[in-house]
Amino acid sequence: MDIQLAQNKLFGAWDSGKNGQNPMQSYRIVNERKWQETIDPLKLFLGVVIGRGSFGVVHKGTYQGQPVAVKVLDFGDTKITEASMAFVKEDFVKEVNVWQTLDHPNVSKMIGATMSMTKNCRQKTKKKNTESNFCIVCEYVRGGSLRSYLSKNRHKKLPFRTAIRFALDIASGLSYLHSKKVIHRDVKPENMLIDKQHMTIKLTDFGESIFEPSELLYTTGERGTRGFMAPEVVARKPYGRKCDVYSFGICLWEIYNCDMAYTFNIDNLTPDIYREMRPLISVNCPKSLAHLMERCWDTDPKKRPEMKDVVVLLEEIEKYESFQTVPEDLHGGCFTFFRF
Ligand SMILES: Nc1ncnc2c1ncn2[C@@H]1O[C@H](COP(=O)(O)OP(=O)(O)OP(=O)(O)O)[C@@H](O)[C@H]1O
Ligand SMILES: [Mg+2]
Repeated sequence: MDIQLAQNKLFGAWDSGKNGQNPMQSYRIVNERKWQETIDPLKLFLGVVIGRGSFGVVHKGTYQGQPVAVKVLDFGDTKITEASMAFVKEDFVKEVNVWQTLDHPNVSKMIGATMSMTKNCRQKTKKKNTESNFCIVCEYVRGGSLRSYLSKNRHKKLPFRTAIRFALDIASGLSYLHSKKVIHRDVKPENMLIDKQHMTIKLTDFGESIFEPSELLYTTGERGTRGFMAPEVVARKPYGRKCDVYSFGICLWEIYNCDMAYTFNIDNLTPDIYREMRPLISVNCPKSLAHLMERCWDTDPKKRPEMKDVVVLLEEIEKYESFQTVPEDLHGGCFTFFRF
């Protein structure tokens, strides 16, 4: 783990209310009071590594005999100081506090978390000594990330029906999060898992998520991932849950096109250039879908629809789709499409 990054995230990018107070101290007290071990490490078994993120590794494992995914915080090679440890812990508790409140078919289910894993946990593979004792145990979703699914199907594209189904799952999951006053803040195909058995999508990775305050958030640092990040976040302007709607718009483009929206490096673009940048919509894309993408990624957050309205719009698109299908060779994105 990049400790400097963690510190930047927590010091530099600390989100505060409109009055700009530093909520660090009170926040920490609240979190410490709330922390509760919800996993018995004796019943946890760690297997192979199935994923990696900037803050840790994800192992496949079992808990009480059931298959699970175990997200273990990894400190990397950086020597961890007591101060940086406090911030890492802070972030970990924040993720757990948000995730444990969630229960929806399109959200991966958290089972529990512990800060004392290595003491008792049995290991199939040797655990790297950079891996911490902090872990979150969640349901194992068999099918990998949406990103790897899109990459695998890049050449043949997705059937339109599948693309709309996926979009509906994501929109339903996000609509649920927003109804629970949770902003995900890192909506992207890497943070979506495919349940292979039911061919449904589940949102995951609540490392950037936050309970929505009554006022807009201010941040001095970037939150989320460039390309998916709303322009107001990049420009350090006040933002709210509509930042997820923007990211959803980009995801919708990626699902329809079965590709990445940007293949060049956009990390150093100025906020002004970033604000104007959007992926190109294929002329063959159904107008209704193209219009939805454009509404979701509108520069003005107020003009973006609420996620619950996106669900309704997608359901309408799905309904019409069953009547309108045109030949495969005319496609520009999905391999079947329609026009209203
Ligand atoms: N519940 C799960 N079931 C199966 N695979 C999973 C599960 N959770 C995560 N993975 C795999 O691990 C990868 C990383 O997971 P996740 O995004 O939660 O980790 P992370 O450390 O928070 O990453 P980052 O913060 O860099 O995005 C996913 O893209 C996926 O491939
Ligand atoms: Mg992730």
